[in-house]
Amino acid sequence: MTDTILVTGGTGFIGSHAVVSLQQAGYRVQILDNLCNSDIKVLDAIASITKTRPDFMEGDIRDGNLLAKIFDKRRFGAVMHFAGLKAVGESSAMPLAYYDNNVNGSVQLLTAMQQAGLKNFIFSSSATVYGEPQKLPLTEDHPRSSTNPYGHTKLVIEDILANLRNSDNAWRIACLRYFNPVGAHPSGLIGEAPQGVPNNLMPFVAQVAAGQRPNLQVYGNDYDTPDGTGVRDYIHVMDLADGHVKALDYCLKAQPGLTTVNLGTGKGYSVLEVIAAFEQASGKPVPYQVVARRPGDVGACWASTTKAFDLLGWRAEKCLDDMCQDAWRWELSRHDV
Ligand code: NAD
Ligand code: UD1
Repeated sequence: MTDTILVTGGTGFIGSHAVVSLQQAGYRVQILDNLCNSDIKVLDAIASITKTRPDFMEGDIRDGNLLAKIFDKRRFGAVMHFAGLKAVGESSAMPLAYYDNNVNGSVQLLTAMQQAGLKNFIFSSSATVYGEPQKLPLTEDHPRSSTNPYGHTKLVIEDILANLRNSDNAWRIACLRYFNPVGAHPSGLIGEAPQGVPNNLMPFVAQVAAGQRPNLQVYGNDYDTPDGTGVRDYIHVMDLADGHVKALDYCLKAQPGLTTVNLGTGKGYSVLEVIAAFEQASGKPVPYQVVARRPGDVGACWASTTKAFDLLGWRAEKCLDDMCQDAWRWELSRHDV
């Protein structure tokens, strides 16, 4: 029998790509999503990529009764938990919404899983838990800290997972710390669709290249980096999705326990390098102006990828040009440029 995986947030940016990878790896998928930041049409797109339509339930992870019904009705091999809110600025303006959605939502989900006797869990954490890097590359044992409510929700959930695992050694948990997920499925059928003004670099650059916005603001060129602009470890979302399948396979086979792994490429690119790569991929100019640093930003951040490779046998394959080309194809599929 093929395992069915419950994917919360499976119509969102990263979740939808993970659903594609899971289905292509032979898993069946049930999505639970309240559609607060995604579109139901993603299901058609996934079906046309994989030739299989994932099962979908519209609902909220904070709804304990609904969760009990879902676990009562169907047996799952594991839960992959993407659902949550993720905008750093918004989290400072609405901290309670973030603690409710992310922390309370995760507690509700884990409680329902415990009651159902399902203890295999893959969690979307973030490199934001490393705070200001003390040493690069960032290894999983780097001290953790947070500078905003969103980041703090990830820290708290990581701690809850550690407590849970200490309370019951039957749990198999993978805590995956994503660096900067970008790009889109190469088909151009699914990708990131930010509502309003994008907070993150790559979707903003794509909209400037597409003529949707006049120019990009580069947040600071006085960092201690080769060209002075911020350096990040951008990872193609399909590599990230494949990392989830590898982490799931590992969790299901290895001894029970909690494993924390970075998902990044191990290579950092500056804002100016991203702009140049995007101009090359799109054939369009990306005008920019340098402005002050964004509060809360770190200068440089990239992953140590050793643990992911040693434990999961996974490493990112796609380069910055692939990320830009696929992000551009996705942008073109949505606008007349
Ligand atoms: P996204 O907003 O595109 O996807 C999240 C999905 O969860 C959306 O479809 C949304 O409708 C759904 N959702 C939100 N709250 C819900 C709730 N209470 N009940 C049910 N569904 C709910 O975000 P994403 O970029 O795909 O991120 C997925 C996960 O990865 C999040 O937990 C995020 O914090 C984490 N993460 C993302 C990034 C990134 O750069 N995108 C980086 C690190 C970690
Ligand atoms: C941001 C979040 C982080 C979250 C991550 C998800 C902040 C402070 N951090 O990380 O918590 O986990 O997104 O992907 O918001 N930049 C510009 N102009 C822009 C946008 C960004 O110059 O319009 C620069 C930034 O200063 C940074 C780089 O581009 O140097 C990447 O920024 P971004 O895509 O927002 O990611 P992070 O800041 O790494």
